[in-house]
Amino acid sequence: MEGNNSNKQPEKSIPEQTLRRIPLYHQILAEMERQGDEHVSSKHLAQFFQVDDTQVRKDVAIIGYKGKPKSGYSVKGLKNAIEEFLGINYQNTAILVGAGHLGSALAQYPGMGEYGLKLIAVFDNDPSKAGNVLGSFTILPLEALQRVVRSYDIGIAIITVPKEAAQSVCNRIVSLGIKAIWNFAPTQLSVPENVTVRNENIATGIALLSHYLKTHKRTHRSRKEREKNKVPPKKVIEIFNKYQPKREYLIPILEEAQKIYSYLPEDILEFIADFLNIPISSLIQTIRFYSNFKLIPPAKYQIKICIGDTCQRKEAIEILESVSKQLNIGAGESTKSGLFSLEAVPCPGICSESPVVTINDTIYKKIHVGQVSKIIGDLLKKGSSAVADKTSA
Ligand code: FES
Repeated sequence: MEGNNSNKQPEKSIPEQTLRRIPLYHQILAEMERQGDEHVSSKHLAQFFQVDDTQVRKDVAIIGYKGKPKSGYSVKGLKNAIEEFLGINYQNTAILVGAGHLGSALAQYPGMGEYGLKLIAVFDNDPSKAGNVLGSFTILPLEALQRVVRSYDIGIAIITVPKEAAQSVCNRIVSLGIKAIWNFAPTQLSVPENVTVRNENIATGIALLSHYLKTHKRTHRSRKEREKNKVPPKKVIEIFNKYQPKREYLIPILEEAQKIYSYLPEDILEFIADFLNIPISSLIQTIRFYSNFKLIPPAKYQIKICIGDTCQRKEAIEILESVSKQLNIGAGESTKSGLFSLEAVPCPGICSESPVVTINDTIYKKIHVGQVSKIIGDLLKKGSSAVADKTSA
């Protein structure tokens, strides 16, 4: 029966690629709902991903939602089912311990509420910080922890203290009955079996925050501002003339734009977002899902580091940090010389070979930090001698 959401969490483990697609389905459905669409087919959803409609139906079955043979899924019904599945309809109360740079940034990050997380209080184990104001919070001493946890029925604790202090803070939190910990300290915490710890790697976190800031900046340039300044280049207008301004044409439009520029420049994406009347942030999220679309100019050596969960557990973040340091660029950037670009990419589905790094068409499997650094060192030498060859020719 349509809309019969079972509310049951699946017992089998959910494929990582499905988990990555579910929030994107939600964004697409939210956008469709804004545009007044009532129904959507699995085929329509499939075109946003490199999957066929059977895969979409499997994903939706995992969510526990059913469509009708002729009309497909109800946009609103499926969106609600995803919200329930992801738990973003519920308000989880959280505390944060550790008001250093990262803790301060997280405490003031406005996106938490969107995911059902309500931060109640911020603590620090340094008594000199107690009483300081941090955004809308007054930093509390650890002594106040018990009172706050009990009064507000806190469900989640976010730990952002240095690694030396993390375990003792964790023990204190666990002793108060908190069962979910979001750990940003660069250390493994030991907890009882009934407590869940989500370890967050700082490098990934920074990449996400910087992505958020970029997107935030983009979305804050209004359409009027953009239209006032520029009109799309002639070649882009030619693409627009071939398609109706409907989201279902997003992929072919992107493909044509990338053919012209060899990547998808930011200002061109803004024109595309305006043309299709979709938020630039949701457009970029969709693009990042596809490995064939490039958001940065193609460099001679395109380094892609998988930061899927399995690779993260096996040095992927160390590799990312080391490459970033060696080339002096962050993820999503290219070197000034145009020799290297660096990207942190989602799981390509070969987790048994993790960690996985690709440089152009070569896939390096089960690779270590030292090996990656040597490969890049060799390419750097090759690159500089090629430049020397050209100059002396
Ligand atoms: S997490 Fe699957 S290949 Fe990296």
